[in-house]
Amino acid sequence: MRTRVTDMFGIELPIFAFSHCRDVVAAVSRAGGMGVLGALYFTPDELETELAWIDDHVDGRPYGVDVVMPASYAGADFPADELVGRLQTMIPEGHRSFVENLLTRHGVPELAADADPGRVLLGWTDATARPQVEVALRHPIALLANALGPPPADVVKLAHDHGVKVAALASTPRHALKQVEVGVDVVVAQGTEAGGHTGEISTMVLIPQVVDAVDVPVLAAGGIGNGRQMAAGMALGAEGVWTGSLWLTVEEADTPEMARRRILQATSRDTVRSRSWTGKPARLLRNEWTEAWESQESPGTLPMPLQFMLVSDALRRIGRSEAAELATFPAGQIIGIMNQVRSAKDVVFGLVEEYGDALERLERITAD
Ligand SMILES: Cc1cc2nc3c(=O)[nH]c(=O)nc-3n(C[C@H](O)[C@H](O)[C@H](O)COP(=O)(O)O)c2cc1C
Repeated sequence: MRTRVTDMFGIELPIFAFSHCRDVVAAVSRAGGMGVLGALYFTPDELETELAWIDDHVDGRPYGVDVVMPASYAGADFPADELVGRLQTMIPEGHRSFVENLLTRHGVPELAADADPGRVLLGWTDATARPQVEVALRHPIALLANALGPPPADVVKLAHDHGVKVAALASTPRHALKQVEVGVDVVVAQGTEAGGHTGEISTMVLIPQVVDAVDVPVLAAGGIGNGRQMAAGMALGAEGVWTGSLWLTVEEADTPEMARRRILQATSRDTVRSRSWTGKPARLLRNEWTEAWESQESPGTLPMPLQFMLVSDALRRIGRSEAAELATFPAGQIIGIMNQVRSAKDVVFGLVEEYGDALERLERITAD
């Protein structure tokens, strides 16, 4: 397969795999696609460890790193050393008691007194993502991707100075144009079907609009779970596909067992776009957590990054408890067709084989 994207990165297959799990990233790159490690959950030191491991396991194949530098968030103008303290004072007491009452109703125990304090900002802000970018650029990465807006122009320049290409996720043609203005090399056009932060336009409608709006190559994202969907994305004008949910259930993934089981059983109706995780709309597994935030008693969600600061301890408590009905996580609509555990390599090869079958089928239709 050959597109501008395979030429740009020297990869055999225009298949990009977003994952927070280093084993998945390395396996997809080794299989001929490109793994992209989500840096969000890692401190700079942890990210250093993950990337050193990938360097040792990727057989010299290209891979990427993804950070989250939102175009807008509460406290963006606060000095970095005052950020957490000042943001904490902006969380209303009523929101804190809503969360506490919800957990009490479901019998979720407190964290142990000696539990680690957790990290309330993760990489959700410019201030917390920049150190991750610095770490990433010390490694032989081929791609730096950004979610939730165009990356800052100085970060694009820094990446380019290191010979690293830059991608950004767009959910409207207007976003895509802004990204190209700051110099991104690849636009990931992500439809509403996608897991994680996502817009309102479906992949089918979005991709041709973005392809027509920009000159750089476009990757189709959101709802790509098999080779037929890959062929559809390419038919719409994309030069590759960017996938996320698909890797949550592969053998290599470090997805908690309970979450893996629920994804394997879920249908495509079991996700919902909800602000209850971070304050910006993200597609999550639908459950009693997401429903509670939509209920009459809900105080409404807070803007990013306050919502995650509000709920981060609660999510850790839920994760350690028996309250599976409250455990929510990002997942796209394609979880409805994900019902077996395979290796990442098998998933990559399966995409390619089914893509080929889809093209043959279309050729037969045309020939008849
Ligand atoms: C569990 C999960 C976490 C995600 N986290 C991020 C993230 O931190 N940064 C990002 O750019 N995209 C993130 N995404 C979105 C993916 O990069 C990708 O665009 C999306 O999964 C594509 O749609 P699909 O889920 O239908 O494959 C996440 C997706 C999932 C499923």
